Amino acid sequence: TYCDSNYYDFLFKIVLVGDSGVGKSNLLSRFINNEFYDNSSTTIGVEFQTKSMQIQGQLVKSQIWDTAGQERYRALTSAYYRNAVGALLIYDITDKRSFENLKKWVSELRNHSQQNTVLILVGNKCDLTTQRAVKIEDAERYAAHESKISQTLNLLDMAFIETSALNAKNVKVAFTNLINEIY
Ligand code: GTP
Ligand code: MG
Repeated sequence: TYCDSNYYDFLFKIVLVGDSGVGKSNLLSRFINNEFYDNSSTTIGVEFQTKSMQIQGQLVKSQIWDTAGQERYRALTSAYYRNAVGALLIYDITDKRSFENLKKWVSELRNHSQQNTVLILVGNKCDLTTQRAVKIEDAERYAAHESKISQTLNLLDMAFIETSALNAKNVKVAFTNLINEIY
């Protein structure tokens, strides 16, 4: 029954990837608990949180995994990606480097996750408009480029969205779009 908190129809594993400091942990805490931390410390090892939602009458439980963007704090890479059906590929719109490093994250994802993992490109910290270093057009072009590669591999398109964990803009939309896409 739905009163049993352990009950679900589907269980989706979703992973967060991106450089240290882009806001992975804050996007997760905003989505799960509607909380934001001004001075959050870097993630050490792996954490996950779950969220259940009804989709077309079925109870879908999402298990969202978060790890450190920094190599030295990361847990075993292959275990992190194993059985992931979706991924948020996150950069910081004020940090060009985090955008350029996405290529590295995508190749790691493609090497370790299953072929049909659904990806969404997320430009976080969109509240920091005056410090913007990555243009929306460049991110759109990159998502389209990855989608083209995906097509040749028979994978799915890569959607793109800008978010703010600070003011909550598009956070729910990013996660729920991804979960709906997987479903
Ligand atoms: P690692 O765990 O080291 O990989 O970093 P992370 O990607 O989990 O980043 P984290 O969520 O810890 O956020 C890093 C810093 O950015 C923190 O000081 C947050 O308060 C800040 N931050 C996160 N999201 C936003 C956002 O949307 N807007 C603004 N202005 N700051 C943010
Ligand atoms: Mg973190």
